[in-house]
Amino acid sequence: MIGAQQAFTTLLSNVVGNMLTVVIMVGAMFYLSWQITLIALVLLPVFLVPARFVGRKLGALTKEGYDLNAEMNMVMQERFNVAGAMLVKLFGRPEQEAGHFDGRAARVRDIGIIQALYARMFMVALVLTASLATAFAYGFGGVAAVHGTLAVGTVVALTAYLARLYAPLAQLSNVNLDVMTTLVSFERIFEVLDLEPMIQERPDAETIPRGPASIEFDHVRFGYPSADQVSLASLEAVATLEASTHTDVLRDVSFRVEPGQMVALVGPSGAGKTTISSLVPRLYDVTEGSVRVSGVDVRDATMDSLRDVVGVVSQDPHFFHDTLRANLLYARPDATDAELDQALGQAQILSLVASLPDGLDTVVGERGYRLSGGEKQRVALARLLLKAPDVVVLDEATAHLDSESEAAVQVALRQALGGRTSLVIAHRLSTVRDADLLLVIDGGRVIERGTHHQLLAAGGLYTLLYHTQFADQEPDIAAGQVAEARPVG
Ligand SMILES: Nc1ncnc2c1ncn2[C@@H]1O[C@H](COP(=O)(O)OP(=O)(O)OP(=O)(O)O)[C@@H](O)[C@H]1O
Ligand SMILES: [Mg+2]
Repeated sequence: MIGAQQAFTTLLSNVVGNMLTVVIMVGAMFYLSWQITLIALVLLPVFLVPARFVGRKLGALTKEGYDLNAEMNMVMQERFNVAGAMLVKLFGRPEQEAGHFDGRAARVRDIGIIQALYARMFMVALVLTASLATAFAYGFGGVAAVHGTLAVGTVVALTAYLARLYAPLAQLSNVNLDVMTTLVSFERIFEVLDLEPMIQERPDAETIPRGPASIEFDHVRFGYPSADQVSLASLEAVATLEASTHTDVLRDVSFRVEPGQMVALVGPSGAGKTTISSLVPRLYDVTEGSVRVSGVDVRDATMDSLRDVVGVVSQDPHFFHDTLRANLLYARPDATDAELDQALGQAQILSLVASLPDGLDTVVGERGYRLSGGEKQRVALARLLLKAPDVVVLDEATAHLDSESEAAVQVALRQALGGRTSLVIAHRLSTVRDADLLLVIDGGRVIERGTHHQLLAAGGLYTLLYHTQFADQEPDIAAGQVAEARPVG
């Protein structure tokens, strides 16, 4: 983007300045001797024609260089970050990754060399033409001076002007090149600017009232937007792979979470649970039907109020590469240290933070202190507690924790969810048993609904899921549950 910046600062002022210089020089030379000026001007095409050719070549090379650099940046960010590097190492293909990268880097290097070569050629042509013109001026002017038709002083003045004429001309012929390289930068900027955000706030959006909130899904149909709808054209090479798979992920999903209730979603992998949870904070818009929070359709709500009311804890919470304090303050910038401690205490993570050498100033995130899975969840819950939303959307972690941190996470969860309206993707037995309502999702539909006991008694998909997903978490109790359920069914 620096390229685009240069367009206005240097390019424009250069063009105007150089044009003025050329006009004044040529005018002065014509005044002194029109014959010599004509000769000097006739030589111009000798220089300008190759200059244009070189300019065009350089423009194409510059564009290729930019594209390659962008691609390399992407590879660096995606493949060579902590998680990506781990994947590369684990699957044992680092040579291939390095090879890919080397290939691109080599091309960027070649482009640099070719650019330098062309630029040299350009300079040679310029110096040659300028010298030729000067030689002609001295020759023609010298003869004229001998014959007395031209003063010696005039000849010297003419050659001095000539020398000053070629530098701005060279720069002007380069404008073509500068404009082309600049256009490459602009192309990229406009591509980003022109991309309409998929989710937009309506001009007359209303505020969701604070206080006990409800969540309502009303005959929701939803399919993920295809790649070409969401990505940039220059990224399309990567994105088109998945462009064709546009099908409904959710069909006719209806349910209601009353204020203060906890509703849990269960179902096989790929059923659409995460998708349902992402519609509440309006990460996507529904295709049909509506999602309402406290009676307000999320498409009619202001983004600010939706963000304030709905808090999300994802399955694998992310932290910025920054101090714990900064990560927590992100949820509520004006929180005091006492409030931070209180939230950490409620999330059962205060003792760990206190034991860190730098305490709240410990740097976490990818390249900082690596929190364990259970610790991450508790810090994320502390962050949620600081934000104090009325609605919590939670994707429980699937990772099995040791019983000690499992117990701590459970206490933290009770603190975070207590008194709030929550929609939880359940992976814990304790969650499904506490839930006011369970929704069994399969193939994008709600196929069963009821409490844990009701569903076990019904003996449908939930019973099956229960035995495969939850029963092993608390073997004794699970056995008891089955025994309890059998007489009913
Ligand atoms: N960003 C996305 N773009 C396109 N399709 C997606 C996207 N995310 C999920 N899907 C598809 O939507 C369907 C439902 O996925 P979802 O993540 O909601 O399942 P899930 O119930 O959360 O599964 P799991 O228990 O494994 O987390 C899947 O078929 C998945 O391939
Ligand atoms: Mg999921």
